[in-house]
Amino acid sequence: MRAADLADDLTTVLVTEEQIRARLEEIAQQVAADYRGQNLLLVGVLKGAVMVMADFARALPMVVPMDWMAVSSYGTGTRSSGVVQIRKDLDTDIHDRHVLIVEDIIDSGLTLSWLLDNFASRGAASVEVFALLRKPDAAKVHVDCRYVGFDIPNEFVVGYGLDFAERYRNLRDVAVLSRHVYA
Ligand code: PRP
Repeated sequence: MRAADLADDLTTVLVTEEQIRARLEEIAQQVAADYRGQNLLLVGVLKGAVMVMADFARALPMVVPMDWMAVSSYGTGTRSSGVVQIRKDLDTDIHDRHVLIVEDIIDSGLTLSWLLDNFASRGAASVEVFALLRKPDAAKVHVDCRYVGFDIPNEFVVGYGLDFAERYRNLRDVAVLSRHVYA
């Protein structure tokens, strides 16, 4: 599904499928060079990172295992409370492993900030982050993100894994959701 198929629900297309594909190729080359000879593990954060993980992992010119975590915020009822609950943990022991967390988006940064602390406490040899999208104006905490696809404005975006009420994840592009859909 392309943005043009959903024109009534979207305002601006921020990143097209073609731009995503080109950027993933660039970052994959960079990651392959940075981790040459190292035992890299990709960790995707469900569910939003499914699309970027699938395309990024296939763009890498090397064999690399993938694992997944599912987390959710709880406590205040808002998704960016910073209090995180593990809904599905890793299957892999990451002690002494070089971990690259693959995320669709850094919004407030609270989810990744918590994950980085959590992974460090498990004794990983290194933990770095690749986020396809980042909203610099929404940051509540600083997250060291080694690889960033695109910095975007602080708008409600959907597509390429990002949802509103579980919808629009299968949109190929990243676009701003019209206010009438959620207001
Ligand atoms: C989204 C996204 C990140 C997180 C970023 O996940 O995939 O994990 O929010 O927000 P933050 O920087 O403000 O913490 P969400 O909780 O919507 O779950 P989902 O991936 O299943 O859609």
